Amino acid sequence: MSFSTHFTHAITRRPAPSITAGLRAIDTGSPDLALMQSHHADYIATLKETGATVIELPALDAYPDSVFVEDTALCLPQGAVIMRPGAPSRLGEAAKMAPHLAAFYGDIRRIEAQDSFIEGGDILVTEREVLVGRSARTNAAGIAELTLVVAPWGHTLREVHTPPGVLHFKTDCSLLDIDTILSTSRLAASGCFEDYRVIPVAEGEEAAANTIRFNELVLMPAGFPRTRDAITAAGFTVREIGNSECAKLDGGMSCLSLRFTPRP
Ligand code: GLY
Repeated sequence: MSFSTHFTHAITRRPAPSITAGLRAIDTGSPDLALMQSHHADYIATLKETGATVIELPALDAYPDSVFVEDTALCLPQGAVIMRPGAPSRLGEAAKMAPHLAAFYGDIRRIEAQDSFIEGGDILVTEREVLVGRSARTNAAGIAELTLVVAPWGHTLREVHTPPGVLHFKTDCSLLDIDTILSTSRLAASGCFEDYRVIPVAEGEEAAANTIRFNELVLMPAGFPRTRDAITAAGFTVREIGNSECAKLDGGMSCLSLRFTPRP
């Protein structure tokens, strides 16, 4: 089993009424809380379908984007690292996650320097390396600090670049198995996946790039049939989850969970 695709646990956080104030690059309308809650329930049910335990944290109304728990931490087999989100309104979310991870991990580290910023959405963990995309939310100091944390755990970190105007590195890519990455053409063109097999997201379906491989399933946003068919044709079992409301806030499948296997 690969530690980058197979997990016994996930942590999610319920969407809060304040989700209507969530950050977004372009305003395409206010997210509908009831519909987001319904999609979120489908997402959790699908994670559980694989046999995983899902810890469902209560909503945090003080943090409109707190449903996107992935940005608060990086979970590796050896330990967890609490991030320092680059969005000022999200900085406090990381501390709220720390005690929940401490219940599962013996080794919890923190990105601490005042000038370090890094969000989990910019981090793609594969079997052989940790790719971190420099972005508007993740800076050189944050990447340097994370490098020092994960190196003693045996992980090689490679800095890459999130495409301009794209929120996070994983907005544009996902790991499907230890050698295979789903990627938009604009990101793959940077050459960052030369050592991997790349399944291209269909042109015009760029919002389908953020999927998760979770045990035997690939969870992807509904509404992208050409990309769905390409993933299925490559031999993966796909589950489509409604994502219309999270998409209004630039969120997707990976953003909604922390996925891990506890190491006491
Ligand atoms: N709305 C998600 C984010 O900007 O972090």
